[in-house]
Amino acid sequence: MPAAAAKSALPEEAQLFLLLRQLDLQPEASQRATAEALGISLGSLNAQLRAASEAGLITVQDRPGPDRRQRFAYALTTRGATEKARLAEGFLAGKLAEYNALHAELTGALPHLIASKNRTKDMQQNFAPVPELYVSYDSAQKLKVEAGNLPSWDLTPRQICDLELLMNGGFAPLKGFLSEADYDGVVEKMRLADGTLWPMPITLDVSEKFAEGIEAGQDIALRDQEGVILAILSVSDKWVPNKANEAEKVFGADDLAHPAVNYLHNVAGPVYLGGPITGIQQPVHYDFKGRRDTPNELRAFFRKMGWRKVVAFQTRNPLHRAHQELTFRAARNAEANLLIHPVVGMTKPGDVDHFTRVRCYEAVLDKYPAQTTQLSLLNLAMRMAGPREALWHAIIRKNHGLTHFIVGRDHAGPGKNSQGKDFYDPYAAQELVRQYQAEVGIEMVDFKQMVYVQEKAQYFPVDEVPEGATVLDISGTELRRRLREGLEIPDWFSFPEVVQELRRTSPPRAKQGFTVFFTGLSGSGKSTIANALMVKLMEMGGRPVTLLDGDVVRKHLSSELGFSKEHRDINIKRIGYVASEITKNGGIAICAPIAPYTSTRRAVREMIEAFGAFVEVHVATSIDECERRDRKGLYKLAREGKIKEFTGISDPYEAPVKAELVVDTENVDVDHCAHQVLLKLESMGLIKG
Ligand code: PPS
Repeated sequence: MPAAAAKSALPEEAQLFLLLRQLDLQPEASQRATAEALGISLGSLNAQLRAASEAGLITVQDRPGPDRRQRFAYALTTRGATEKARLAEGFLAGKLAEYNALHAELTGALPHLIASKNRTKDMQQNFAPVPELYVSYDSAQKLKVEAGNLPSWDLTPRQICDLELLMNGGFAPLKGFLSEADYDGVVEKMRLADGTLWPMPITLDVSEKFAEGIEAGQDIALRDQEGVILAILSVSDKWVPNKANEAEKVFGADDLAHPAVNYLHNVAGPVYLGGPITGIQQPVHYDFKGRRDTPNELRAFFRKMGWRKVVAFQTRNPLHRAHQELTFRAARNAEANLLIHPVVGMTKPGDVDHFTRVRCYEAVLDKYPAQTTQLSLLNLAMRMAGPREALWHAIIRKNHGLTHFIVGRDHAGPGKNSQGKDFYDPYAAQELVRQYQAEVGIEMVDFKQMVYVQEKAQYFPVDEVPEGATVLDISGTELRRRLREGLEIPDWFSFPEVVQELRRTSPPRAKQGFTVFFTGLSGSGKSTIANALMVKLMEMGGRPVTLLDGDVVRKHLSSELGFSKEHRDINIKRIGYVASEITKNGGIAICAPIAPYTSTRRAVREMIEAFGAFVEVHVATSIDECERRDRKGLYKLAREGKIKEFTGISDPYEAPVKAELVVDTENVDVDHCAHQVLLKLESMGLIKG
């Protein structure tokens, strides 16, 4: 293309959108075909292409060959793709306005006075598409090749969930990971810098090391855990967040008992990157493919079925009869259809795994009247942020084409804080959503807790129970106890199919895998007690037992590691990973490392509690006694400075505050210590007496 003497003006926004969309869809088309598709002259197309290329929105390359009409090849740059995503919204709004005006002209009605029942289906807001951040398949192939040379970040499981909803429009109007100004606005006022309501910081946290090499203005490739490039982030901001402030403002307290606060401090990287995203491909899912829908797929389904009003039910738990009653009533009262919209991304540590839950949901689906209810899985990473989370959920549901949203008691509650009190008032979530529902454009249906009335053999909302009636209920904790102990779960509480599924995946505790994790100073007696325990458990039989002793692990799993904090953490996490696999598969893992850091022990606990019990045993032998015994002669060397970073001498040991058991080895023999552990396991139902 000949160089322009002066900068050309970009076409107005709607035309620019059409141009970028066309180049995205058919990057290989000839200029003539592109001009025809856009309904403009070749001259005008040339001017537009020149302007777009000068603005860095497209690239132009010479194409060798005899055909004069195919002299150039065009492709969207990541900036062009981002611009296209930005313009899509205005374009859609413009189209809707045109449609409204046309409708008004035809019917003589003023657009805002058109009753919804008279609107044509295309005007129904939950039927219209929501903008996505993906480029076309052809553009994606090109960008993927280019992205191969960019610095790349391997996304964490939580970031993959966030990215999926950013790209498919579930987090609309976000166009990428939050910039610093947007982040500040969201943390302080629940609003983006431009004033749009958005309650949850969606940030890309990275390590310090990775951040060092990244500057604003740079593109980075975002890869899944197998290295597949999912998107390109055009970095606009890089900053170190004030995490304590984020915890206080977003989660209500800087308290590590809150799972998201723990994640923030102990899992998330220290630096945030922000900027728009160019979507290349969806994260791959192999499970329940047919039950996963993007916002636009759900909208298309509602359009096809003619579902103008749809109530969403958010859940991270299996559905029992009370939930079925409640959702059915909610839909009936709102004269709407129902969407069971469970979260299958990340929920609260310790929840029933999503595979089991989805099988339970499928069983419950048959209990609703035919054609009224649909099940769709949402790959969201929950934060358990109560009120802010409920509002975020409402916005996400609005983006998925839902018109109503059920908010229950203690919606997305994280449980108790470190003082044993609830983090949030149980009705704070309802209040916040009520306050903002008009602005979001979704109607809240507040959840009345349903209870079973024995005399009537029927469920009632708790505020409509007949006087003097006998109310029955089984709490989540009680249900877990019954499952754990293999006790009866009555038919009035749940459906037999659901109970059967839960029993299959949660056998009684005495048949589940578990981990005993000894921690204590070097020479405290961990290995000796662990060995004795292993032999006793093997004598009892029933489950395979594996001992992951500190010294043995360092020989076979961690031979390259030393004793810096970083290396100790890697070592303990490796032990945790192996123990979690053993636990998951129904075995008993006994670990006996020093494990001096509270946060690492906590991370291991979380890994294991996803599959079975974690029994932390503090072998509380004092440093003086360990040094007196000095069985390996290491304390002497440490005192002489010949071993550096020696735990208890020149390196810290953070004693556990809430271990399941503390054993004293100073006045008690090993056999008795091992027996104490056995008694603890028995009291926890992990072994039969
Ligand atoms: S950690 O901190 O949990 O990763 O340590 P661990 O894997 O249990 O390894 C502890 C054993 O390594 C020997 N050793 C040391 N311990 C502590 N600090 C330093 N600097 C050190 N250097 C070597 C020591 O024998 C520990 O064994 P135990 O069985 O605990 O006595």
